[in-house]
Amino acid sequence: MKNSDRGEFIYFHEKAYEMLKNYLLNQVDSIKNTFILVDDRTHQHCLPILLSHIDFLKESNLIQIKSGEEEKNIHTCIQICKNLEKFKANRKSLILNLGGGVITDIGGFVASIFKRGIRFVNIPTTLLGMVDAAVGNKTGVNLDSIKNEIGSFYIPEFLIIDTYFLKTLPKKEIISGMAEMFKHGLIANKDFWMKMNQIKDLNDIDVNQWHHLIYQSILIKQKIVDQDPKEKGLRKILNFGHTIGHALESYFLNAEKILHGIAVIMGMICESWISYKINGLPISDYENIKSTFSELYPMQKKIYGLSDSEIEKILMIMEYDKKNEKNKIQFSLLKEIGKCSYNCQVTHSLIKECFLK
Ligand SMILES: NC(=O)c1ccc[n+]([C@@H]2O[C@H](COP(=O)([O-])OP(=O)(O)OC[C@H]3O[C@@H](n4cnc5c(N)ncnc54)[C@H](O)[C@@H]3O)[C@@H](O)[C@H]2O)c1
Ligand SMILES: [Zn+2]
Repeated sequence: MKNSDRGEFIYFHEKAYEMLKNYLLNQVDSIKNTFILVDDRTHQHCLPILLSHIDFLKESNLIQIKSGEEEKNIHTCIQICKNLEKFKANRKSLILNLGGGVITDIGGFVASIFKRGIRFVNIPTTLLGMVDAAVGNKTGVNLDSIKNEIGSFYIPEFLIIDTYFLKTLPKKEIISGMAEMFKHGLIANKDFWMKMNQIKDLNDIDVNQWHHLIYQSILIKQKIVDQDPKEKGLRKILNFGHTIGHALESYFLNAEKILHGIAVIMGMICESWISYKINGLPISDYENIKSTFSELYPMQKKIYGLSDSEIEKILMIMEYDKKNEKNKIQFSLLKEIGKCSYNCQVTHSLIKECFLK
């Protein structure tokens, strides 16, 4: 799969390690000039897998940060840059980002600024990382509580997908990552939505199925990104479910923290209802979406029974969302399953109403 800009490739499993090995042998001056970025968990669970495929990577330099979203900030970037400096990194250095979205976001960002830009490769180890964070060339870190406020568009050399990493990933993280896969189907590919819909139990999915579903999901995102790399228009459809989803994520942060994917599922249910009300989404599609998510994600019940004052607070959070232009809350809304519009304006009363449905 080729990125139109510069030649980003996505490789799977054995082929991926072959590719990386050849790249390291032929396009990096010395293995000592390669840096593997991990967090404490990917150090434990994922590094041994990578080394078992490419043993000479043992001689590269390891940079480790603590795991967690709190670490995705500019201070950690400086710490990583200081480590690169300590190990005498230069403009020909290569960073291998081995981890979830936090590692690929921060590692990609550091690669984009260190010595005005060095090469990097993404090796995502979470489902969310594979189908979303490591795809699409967005890198960045948070500024205090403002998500992804500092960042850049920067293209990796290539992307390596090994679904074997998912074996050690907690089930709730898998479920969270699946939300973005469902989203890809809803906004751009009905067939893929139907395939995702057949998943009734995670334990029933074997490695080959994961491989296939992840590949399809990446293709859908990559195709959208290729058409609008800098999010001037079409790429905004990837925000479906996220206007309300982000607000719910922030709101529940103070009470019982919920994972991003769960917030997005709740956001997609609400925004599908709004899509039905003002964007022509057939009621049968809305019912289909709601029942699918209710079966797989019982957590979504949280949005029912919110009080008026709670809904007001969630609305206030949405008003601060950076995607709002000219003081209007902007949505991406479904036209039907597989088709999505963007830059849709929604009245406050309709937003309130969607929580009561
Ligand atoms: N750049 C983008 O376009 C984009 C898109 C979506 C999300 N993101 C970002 O991605 C981040 C979330 O990514 P995430 O959900 O992968 O979070 P994460 O990177 O924090 O990973 C989740 C947890 O799983 C652990 N982990 C990772 N791989 C593991 C494995 N194979 N086995 C066991 N444990 C493992 C991590 O150490 C961490 O504790 C957010 O910061 C979000 O903003 C970026
Ligand atoms: Zn998301």
